[in-house]
Amino acid sequence: KMRGGWVECRGDMDAFAPGLLSIYESLKPSEEHKSKQSQLIDSLAKSVSKEWPNARLHLYGSCASSFGTSHSDVDVCLEIDIGTGSVVELLLRLAEILRTDNFDDVEAITSARVPIVRMLDAGSGFSCDICINNLFAVANTKLLKDYAQIDGRLLQLASIVKHWAKLRAVNETYRGTLSSYAYVLMCISFLQLREPKILPCLQAMEPTYTMVVDDSECAYFDEVHQLHDFGAENKESIAELLWAFFHYWAFQHDYRKDVISIRMGKIISKKEKNWTTRVGNDRHLMCIEDPFETGHDLGRVVDRQTIRIIREEFERAAAILQHSDDPCDTLFQPY
Ligand code: GTP
Ligand code: MG
Repeated sequence: KMRGGWVECRGDMDAFAPGLLSIYESLKPSEEHKSKQSQLIDSLAKSVSKEWPNARLHLYGSCASSFGTSHSDVDVCLEIDIGTGSVVELLLRLAEILRTDNFDDVEAITSARVPIVRMLDAGSGFSCDICINNLFAVANTKLLKDYAQIDGRLLQLASIVKHWAKLRAVNETYRGTLSSYAYVLMCISFLQLREPKILPCLQAMEPTYTMVVDDSECAYFDEVHQLHDFGAENKESIAELLWAFFHYWAFQHDYRKDVISIRMGKIISKKEKNWTTRVGNDRHLMCIEDPFETGHDLGRVVDRQTIRIIREEFERAAAILQHSDDPCDTLFQPY
């Protein structure tokens, strides 16, 4: 399904692949970064186990999914039996404990969709978010990590897109633009739709892994080592893919009707999801289905004004890659 006509990328696009790959390499977290991260997690685990010996800490988000960069925060999920208490009470108690144990800038953010404690580790400079029993996030982190092992171009594309989104100020959910997680889902969906395909749809295959979260099953094929040459027939370089990604979101995606779904490995319709009208604050102007919480649209934060901004950024990026003499420089110019 192509809209906006067939447009081919410039003949010399591949010339920009080495430049893009070196940007990708420079974004990778260093060994020092990773060891500071594990120190932070160890001291966090100590503080928590004093109060709640039976609680478990899970890492999720990009520090666990391999989509991390040196700018990523540390996302931690505390798995704990809350009994008759509430998540909010528990978070407030957690904040108290962390302050006593000399963590810095500890703050309980209890009004968010997913309530968290946020803190800053002054030693390492890391920002760390702690949530309670958000096992969907732990499950989707594993899914992302497994996708990343199938074809190296996913990590490259997603890291570059996330970097671009941060610099162009379209990675700020509190301002109505998209989360990093949303951009990674957009990249996976895009690579599932290439011809020949670069990624399979793991949730459409015979499940080898199941995790039950809140009575719903998160199941998919996770023996990804068997799929290491899945995308081999497709020879597109990271430069072609990056341009095609922006071109898709600038000109080909039908914002009125389409929902991207990595769960189905294809585009589905707003109609079948009942995402055609605004419900409360969810406007569904740009629809990105969560793979496990299928009622959850990662694009719900986008409004009439920010969708214009985001689409203009996609158009700008596609145009720069298509026409500029030095696209790598211009593309990432801070907004
Ligand atoms: P960076 O920290 O920017 O490197 O990206 P990240 O991959 O850690 O993503 P982000 O901080 O946006 O989200 C962390 C994790 O939260 C994701 O990997 C998901 O597992 C989970 N998550 C689930 N639902 C949502 C959601 O609606 N918004 C966000 N932001 N995260 C979600
Ligand atoms: Mg994160």
